[in-house]
Amino acid sequence: MFQANFDLKSYNTFGISAKCSFFGTFSSVEELKSSLTEVKRLNLPLMILGGGSNILLTKDYHGIVLRNEIKGFAIINETENQVIVKSGAGEVWHEFVMKCLDHNLAGIENLSLIPGSVGASPMQNIGAYGVEIKDVFHRLEALHIESGEIHLFDKSGCRFGYRESVFKRELKDQYVITSVEFELQKNARVNTSYGAINEELANKKITKPTIKDVSDAVIAIRQSKLPDPKVIGNAGSFFKNPVIDIELAKKILLEYPEMPNYPDRSNSNQTKLAAGWLIEQAGFKGKRIENYGVHTKQALVLVNYGGSEGKDIYNLSSDILAAVKEKFGVDLEREVNIM
Ligand code: FAD
Ligand code: EPU
Repeated sequence: MFQANFDLKSYNTFGISAKCSFFGTFSSVEELKSSLTEVKRLNLPLMILGGGSNILLTKDYHGIVLRNEIKGFAIINETENQVIVKSGAGEVWHEFVMKCLDHNLAGIENLSLIPGSVGASPMQNIGAYGVEIKDVFHRLEALHIESGEIHLFDKSGCRFGYRESVFKRELKDQYVITSVEFELQKNARVNTSYGAINEELANKKITKPTIKDVSDAVIAIRQSKLPDPKVIGNAGSFFKNPVIDIELAKKILLEYPEMPNYPDRSNSNQTKLAAGWLIEQAGFKGKRIENYGVHTKQALVLVNYGGSEGKDIYNLSSDILAAVKEKFGVDLEREVNIM
């Protein structure tokens, strides 16, 4: 049931050609369980794949790749103001957001057009335009690979942080997320705290935005600066925005008073910087080496113009880490999963 020596090129948004020893898909928990029995028999490493929009393949994978295709959309609980929606982990995230909009359910419209699957959304607590998954997350079901048991995780069990969860840290590679539940609102309260959304709405002369208006604004902003993976290979932000000591930020601001910085409301000793700005200042924005480089409109995004190798893009990311460290004394951290 697995395909041997399989090229993952069309299964990662960077469009990198790299082979895995075996490739299979599962569209139910039962299919996943029988695939895992086969994985144990073959005794090879396992990689779970969703949309492949947050990975960089730097070499062939000597192991088994299983792609999650568990579908499903159901409203499982409803009160006067709130609804719990359950989604199969293999649903496409943006399609799920659109379905919720069709049901007039508010809470995830700011996360429109993020590529990938619903099941991967809790992995790094996806976020954009003032909203993170943790703001609307209810609970998830995940299959424990070792025991084959289904375990439930509530919000505190996921230990969400900025682009972080327990599944990227302590429980890395131990679970397959099979479904996710979200708590959405019936009486829409839009979140336009992110400046660019208001600008976009003002341009369209919208004064009382609906959740559809906010979604449209977010889509327009994203399309104006992020490359479409169908056209230019990429995995979104390659690095996290660094959270640094306030004293180091003050030192940098003396020389660069225009530097974007966002004080941490929960810890007055720390502030978040914009990695895109740091990388641009270090001279990398729009830089192109052969068929890969740094996006012209957003320095946080590394791109494959076609035919590049993952290891070259990885090496470019190392050059960026070193240059930003040398110029600003700031350590960037990769956000994309390196395989
Ligand atoms: P994959 O890339 O397939 O997998 C990512 C990781 O999760 C891998 O380690 C994989 O093994 C693991 N994994 C996947 N599914 C499961 C599962 N069911 N169970 C267990 N482990 C699993 N992210 C943001 O947060 N905000 C953004 O605004 C944003 N913008 C983006 C824009 C572009 C153009 C692109 C290409 C990416 C962007 N991303 C953004 C990153 C990406 O879309 C998200 O990280 C997304 O959640 C990845 O989903 P995926 O299904 O493609 O995951
Ligand atoms: N900036 C520059 N030069 C650049 C890029 C950005 O100076 O080349 C500056 C901008 O002018 C702005 C600041 O950096 O002042 C922030 O830029 P932007 O609003 O574009 O957001 P970001 O911090 O670069 C983050 C997320 C995105 C998310 C957007 C919107 C991370 C690592 N990235 O980007 O997420 O969509 O905010 O909320 O937190 C992703 O994770 O893949 C991703 C795309």
